[in-house]
Parts: sequence; C-alpha cells; structure tokens
Amino acid sequence: MTFKILRFDAQKDNRPYFQVYRHVPKPHETVLEALKDIRDQQDPSLSFRYSCREAVCGSCGMVINGRICLACRTQVGDLGANEVVIEPLPNLEIQKDLIVDLKPFWDAYRKVEPFLQAPGDVPEKGHVVAEKDMEKVFQYITCILCACCYSACPVATRDGRYVGPAALAKLYRFTLDPRDRRPFSALERVDGPDGVWGCDTVFRCNDICPKDVRPADGIEGLRRKIIAGKTKRLFRRKP
Ligand code: FES
Repeated sequence: MTFKILRFDAQKDNRPYFQVYRHVPKPHETVLEALKDIRDQQDPSLSFRYSCREAVCGSCGMVINGRICLACRTQVGDLGANEVVIEPLPNLEIQKDLIVDLKPFWDAYRKVEPFLQAPGDVPEKGHVVAEKDMEKVFQYITCILCACCYSACPVATRDGRYVGPAALAKLYRFTLDPRDRRPFSALERVDGPDGVWGCDTVFRCNDICPKDVRPADGIEGLRRKIIAGKTKRLFRRKP
C-alpha cells in the first residue's frame, strides 16, 4: 500500500511536502502501527506523537484520508483505500512532520481554569457525589484533550482568540459538578465572541470527537447558563 505522509522540518524546510512510502499492513493494523513500522524499517526521521496506543492519552490526533481522527484507533483496512494520506492536525503550527505545536490549544484550555473549585477543606471521606449527578458529567469527563475538535473547528481556523470546543466543554463539565462552586464571573469570562458566542454551531466538533464528548452540547449548555444567570441578576436588581 502507498502511504503519502506530509513532511516538514521547521528547522530546515521552507514548506511542507508529501513523501511516499510503500508498506504492507498486517491484518487489523492501525495507522499508528503502520507509521511505527515505516519509521522503524524505512525512515527513522519520520516524526509523530503517540503514547498509550489505545485512545486514552490523546497524543496521536492527525488527518487520515481527509478525516481528523486518532491514528491508534483507525485501522488501515477500514479506510477502504489503497492509498493512505496522512497530514498533521490543522489550525496548529507544524513543528515536525505530524507533530504540531499545541500551545494555542493549551493556552485556551487554561483560560477556563479546568480544575475543580470546591470551597473549604476536603472532607475526610472526600466529596461524595450522587450517581445521578455524576451521570450528567460523564459525557464531558471522557475528553482526552486530543485537540481534534480544536483542529476541526472553523472558528478556531479564522480566529486564534477563540477558546475552542474542548475548553468550553470542560468549563461546562465543572458547572454541572455539584462540588464545584466557581462564581458566575467564571462564566462571564467566556460570554463573548472569543467564547460561547463565537461558536458557529456547525457541530464539526461533535462530528469528529473520537470519544463522543459532543463539545457543542457543552457550549449550548454554557449559553443557557449564562442567559439564565444574567436574567436572574436582572430580576434581583432593586428598582
Ligand atoms: S496513542 Fe494515545 S490516544 Fe492514540
């Protein structure tokens, strides 16, 4: 089979180019395994990220035959093609070959303070949360921060200030968590075109998320919470 892989070394290349490799995949071989074989047997300079090899660490996001996905979760045989074209994630600068600079993704993610904000000391037995409350949160907990949604987002393509689907979905996750007591001002920080109102609601993030997080649902949820919070505040005002 032909593997056409985008190559670029920021240190020495002026522009990216495709390099073609021939490789015979084993039955049920994943694209990640194929890349490792090509690197080990043909070209040790080929660079890509991976760690867990089982869709947990979020390191191996890339574009495979035009679709953003995890290389460790994509079997070569399932692509139904004799040629596999592999490119790095869009919306992020290429550092080397299939490795992109994730700094803009992480910077945006940090902006929403993606950690539990529970007041006071942690109770001796920990914070106990009812099963039914956690059910609402589970959808968002499964995010592995692979940045596939950020790369697929048309808003992130045209506006680098946009926080992006993963970060907003994470913030929504904490608003659903009964232990979290962050103030309404934390939501107001994303109440603008760089935040929830920037989303085009084209649902590309929902479409490509390899873990079915459906980040756009979280963005919609945040919008509802912001509107509800502001309405409440309006009616609380003294005449
Ligand atoms: S290698 Fe960890 S998600 Fe693919």
